[in-house]
Amino acid sequence: MKLGVNIDHIAVLREARKINDPDPLQALGICQRAGADQITIHLREDRRHIHDKDAEAIIRHSPLPVNLECAVSEDVIDFVCRHQPLRATIVPEKREEVTTEGGLAVTGDQPRLREVIRRLHDAEVEVSLFIDPHPDAVLAAKELGAEWIEFHTGHYANLFAMFYGNLRRTRHRIESLDLPRRELKAMLEEELEQLRRLADHARGIHLRVAAGHGLNYQNVTPIAQIRSIEELNIGQSIVARSVFVGLDAAIREMKALL
Ligand code: PXP
Repeated sequence: MKLGVNIDHIAVLREARKINDPDPLQALGICQRAGADQITIHLREDRRHIHDKDAEAIIRHSPLPVNLECAVSEDVIDFVCRHQPLRATIVPEKREEVTTEGGLAVTGDQPRLREVIRRLHDAEVEVSLFIDPHPDAVLAAKELGAEWIEFHTGHYANLFAMFYGNLRRTRHRIESLDLPRRELKAMLEEELEQLRRLADHARGIHLRVAAGHGLNYQNVTPIAQIRSIEELNIGQSIVARSVFVGLDAAIREMKALL
């Protein structure tokens, strides 16, 4: 299983002080030496963490392939077409959200998304669509011509945290926190089964499959065991762990779980 390390949170720490440290560019060599397979960054419309000059330097100097997450916003798509990372993962984006809270709307008529995918392909950038694990979304992604899909694992991560009791705060509140454990367990197993089923189906129709969001050292193993998923993109938990053990060790520990 490949690991894409999302290094946005290094820039989050820098932006807390609006100075130059820590510089996400310095993570590239460490990620490579620790066994990461890809660098993932999110160039948000509001540039709240990764800035254009970070993304430009990361794409230019990264020894690993770069997966750039972005919304269908004109100036960001222009940037991606100009700087040509290996892959662009299109995500939904709301200014007020703390992080990407759900999958992209891909079903129905999507002329804007179709146009953006065409532009990215013309610029020789692979396209991935960040979608909820739903059969209609998989089919729509295929029909839109994406090479990759990335399943949003936020719902899985929340169910896992609720079941195993380490839920403190979650961005994706599930209606009732008072569900009987039996029911929670069934929901968690059903979510995993859905991810397995859809990953197999996606591979069967020649889509490449990634997954990410909310994955951590506790919950990653069942997802890493899904054979049709090729790659996981993980950020927050790795950067959080690196505060205590260093980035190199945090990546190696995660890589060992995959
Ligand atoms: N994949 C995508 C498409 C994302 O938007 C994010 C969050 O930026 C991640 C993976 C990583 O999520 P986390 O930081 O929760 O590991």
